[in-house]
Amino acid sequence: AAIHDQKAIRGNGGELHQIAEGDTPVLTTAQGGPVADDQNSLRAGERGPTLIEDFHFREKIFHFDHERIPERVVHARGYGAHGFFETYESLAAYTRADVFQRAGERTPAFVRFSTVAGSKGSFDLARDVRGFAVKFYTKEGNWDLVGNNIPVFFIQDAIKFPDVIHAVKPEPDREFPQAQSAHDNFWDFISLTPESMHMIMWVMSDRAIPRSFRFMEGFGVHTFRFVNAKDESTFVKFHWKPKLGLQSVAWNEAVKINGADPDFHRRDLWQAIQSGNFPEWELHVQLFDQDFADKFEFDILDPTKIIPEEVLPTKPVGRLVLDRMPENFFAETEQVAFMTQNVPPGIDFSDDPLLQGRNFSYLDTQLKRLGSPNFTHLPINAPKCPFQHFQQDGHMAMRNPVGRVNYQPNSWGEGPRESPMKGFRHFASEEQGPKLRIRAESFADHYSQARQFFISQTPPEQRHIADALTFELSKVQAPVIRERMIAHLLNIDETLGTKVGHALGLKVMPKPAEAAVATRQDLDPSPALSIIER
Ligand code: HEM
Repeated sequence: AAIHDQKAIRGNGGELHQIAEGDTPVLTTAQGGPVADDQNSLRAGERGPTLIEDFHFREKIFHFDHERIPERVVHARGYGAHGFFETYESLAAYTRADVFQRAGERTPAFVRFSTVAGSKGSFDLARDVRGFAVKFYTKEGNWDLVGNNIPVFFIQDAIKFPDVIHAVKPEPDREFPQAQSAHDNFWDFISLTPESMHMIMWVMSDRAIPRSFRFMEGFGVHTFRFVNAKDESTFVKFHWKPKLGLQSVAWNEAVKINGADPDFHRRDLWQAIQSGNFPEWELHVQLFDQDFADKFEFDILDPTKIIPEEVLPTKPVGRLVLDRMPENFFAETEQVAFMTQNVPPGIDFSDDPLLQGRNFSYLDTQLKRLGSPNFTHLPINAPKCPFQHFQQDGHMAMRNPVGRVNYQPNSWGEGPRESPMKGFRHFASEEQGPKLRIRAESFADHYSQARQFFISQTPPEQRHIADALTFELSKVQAPVIRERMIAHLLNIDETLGTKVGHALGLKVMPKPAEAAVATRQDLDPSPALSIIER
């Protein structure tokens, strides 16, 4: 922006007061009252106490005092941009979602990239999972695809989410480490959670330190459903593939960049978009039915598993282009509220127990963070299609029902009504069985895909994984945690486990961890479950 000379006068204390004149608007209070002096509070006498009567001072400070809202409990540090999604071809055979009906149709979108563990002020190049959350403003309401840059997750059931997050975030007594996984609590939890092994391989790989958001993949992680106009369901997994390809930085580069420029990723996105270099991703889907799903030994409801692309190739169905930065970071990027349960007709959930839990968590957390059930009134969260309902009042209500009627059915001929045809119909999947707290046996293989991932890496990439594990585990003080981790690694890949074990100075390698999870009766209180004295 051009530098502008503003007429100024000097106050008694030598301070500069810039004066509104010509086209320059007059500064006002939030109530619209014009302000004469914004630099001196009202006081009794030149050097006397400030008066409580000074409504301008009080309003200004009161508002400042309330500027902060809670940061996201996870994914606190993020950066977003606006853009559009363009559909390649009609997917009407699979889904009735309007967003996928017409080739060439553009749907406005907002994307927020994030790290998971660090606080809002942490650095960009932490070794961490990256969030890749997309809000599609479709003609049938908002669809949020709240994904990550890694296609699997640490845990299989949402009930463990508070534990994995508590373990990765700073330890409660010392409030460190801030933004890395390198600490006893995290590795303690991981070593006691074999289901996390596949995810750990990805997190220790170069994927966890992307060069920029523009060089990252994104994944919906869970199996979702497409449902077509005939109410037929097809399972679907979503993948974002960056046009620029995948690139990461090496760990020693990341450490230096974090020191020199903790905003490296946000600066990169800002500069790319401001210079017209719009980043682009292709949306791919993997489509399959129940018969196909039944052929796998693993469960397609298990979020710690992928369906290998060699077995089921992905199909490109559209592209996402980010071409506009928010005008205001707080109003848009900070206040955007993603929720997995935002799905339009034609897209539905599977019974993945992680997804089912997320569908509760996101609505709940938005109320806490944004403070009012009217967070959909914020422009960034409001649908861009016509919408009408009878919800009313509450903190900060900006839209209330118009006219006399705020209920239905009603006899006044006012307000919206249900639409059995256009409305969302939950897919009528067959569900039955006893109420149980149990994990299906089809969720029990925690090592095969971890091994496949490791083997699929090139030798330098495998070396990076071994180096990352060595570095991380070398920070762990409790020997039993290190040993437990080596036992897992030995089961994933013997060379990897041995290499890391030797690098950590282990004289005797532990026994490889059990491949299959023991049943409840089999669990013996072996060293793997011992309590550690701190
Ligand atoms: C936030 C992804 C699992 C609870 C986020 C965000 C992403 C994300 C990308 C940031 C959204 C943004 O940019 O505003 C994922 C993925 C998961 C997963 C891919 C697993 C596959 C879970 C689970 C829970 C959960 C299991 C809870 C049971 C939350 C909460 C937030 C969040 C509370 C903060 C939301 C906010 O304050 O705006 N997640 N998450 N997530 N996630 Fe998850």
